[in-house]
Amino acid sequence: MAANTAAEHLSFLRGLLLRPKNVGAIAPSSPALAKAIAAQVDLTRSGPVLELGPGTGVVTQALIERGVAEERLIAIEYDPEFAALVAKRFPRTRVLQGDAFQFAQLLDGSIDRPYAAIISGLPLLNFPPDTRRGLIESALERLQPGAPYIQFSYGTRPSIPPTDRYTVRRAATIWLNLPPARIWVYRSTR
Ligand SMILES: C[S@@+](CC[C@H](N)C(=O)[O-])C[C@H]1O[C@@H](n2cnc3c(N)ncnc32)[C@H](O)[C@@H]1O
Repeated sequence: MAANTAAEHLSFLRGLLLRPKNVGAIAPSSPALAKAIAAQVDLTRSGPVLELGPGTGVVTQALIERGVAEERLIAIEYDPEFAALVAKRFPRTRVLQGDAFQFAQLLDGSIDRPYAAIISGLPLLNFPPDTRRGLIESALERLQPGAPYIQFSYGTRPSIPPTDRYTVRRAATIWLNLPPARIWVYRSTR
């Protein structure tokens, strides 16, 4: 897997300066983190795979390297510059520039199958708990039964706690990332 390029880092820093709350990280995820996130996707499942907040596309690339066909990917990125970059890097991925918290409104009607995985790079901990819960519960409703909602964060606790309707587990801690990151996987219990 290629290391993050200097151009990606610069683009990221510019985004961070302009919109610190939304970008929420000092650099794109490291290749080690991106690979560990992609490893949570179950390759035996078919169907669309949704990525929220792809940034410069490091996780998108890891997903493709893991074996997720680019045509299956849909990415929603708020920052127009990042969205254009991801669309250019991955021309067969469907890239939408918009608010990932509204992903259902953006996509419902155009996606006729439940998702095989939803991967979020959104800095969820920068948002209120009700907003986090709304996103995760909406995602779980649109996933295949038992399919993962994958969230990485720099926190030591999951974005929202589990309920009797879904579980959450810490799938990995990536110390080789700056700062160290944890990968949380939510699954519906239905
Ligand atoms: C922590 S960065 C992660 C970027 C990339 N996934 C990575 O791992 O390097 C968060 C990304 O989420 C995007 N983002 C933040 N809020 C968003 C929103 N409401 N809708 C879509 N993208 C958003 C930011 O622009 C940024 O690209």
